[in-house]
Amino acid sequence: MAKHKIGVLISGGGSNLQALIDASAKADYPASVAVVISNREDAYGLNRAREHDIPAHIINHKDYNTREAFDDAMQDMLERHNVEIVCLAGFMRLLSPKFVARWQGRLLNIHPSLLPSFKGAHAVRDALAAGTKESGCTVHLVTDELDSGPILLQAKLPVLPGDTEETLHFRIHEAEHRIYPEALRILCEKQPKK
Ligand code: GAR
Repeated sequence: MAKHKIGVLISGGGSNLQALIDASAKADYPASVAVVISNREDAYGLNRAREHDIPAHIINHKDYNTREAFDDAMQDMLERHNVEIVCLAGFMRLLSPKFVARWQGRLLNIHPSLLPSFKGAHAVRDALAAGTKESGCTVHLVTDELDSGPILLQAKLPVLPGDTEETLHFRIHEAEHRIYPEALRILCEKQPKK
């Protein structure tokens, strides 16, 4: 089975990257991870890629004068690996409109809240601070507006009495690892394979 080539952008631990790698290992899964790019050299997710012989590159945003120049460097790397779909997996940089336009309909993000609630970089903390009783995670297509593109899948889970940011985020992560591979499958099945 010909698989869609995926590029995964990370900034940290990469547990969602791991879920995508694990799904890719199955013969009937429609995608495989062709390249991983991190904007941080200390991102643990780089090790996860290397353990699976997946090319892993550091492209440090601090080495570029503009957001566009940084995104162009990522674009070059994605093209070098013939990437067809890009998955943001804990990638904590805003992308330029040019990059988003290039990947329109083929750029996915996972976010640790039930969007449209709690957008932004501290979604789990913000949900707890607001006293919400229900939380979860969302996989959506990326558009120019932060955390606002069309939703592919969501998973809901209760906020438990005594939850801390850490305990709630742990359970959200478990749900993320289920729905991210599933959402990517849905997107692949909609995209004609080149
Ligand atoms: C995930 O919970 C993801 O939803 C979140 O960062 C975490 C990365 O974990 N993303 C955002 O907050 C984006 N706004 P991971 O590195 O273990 O996959």
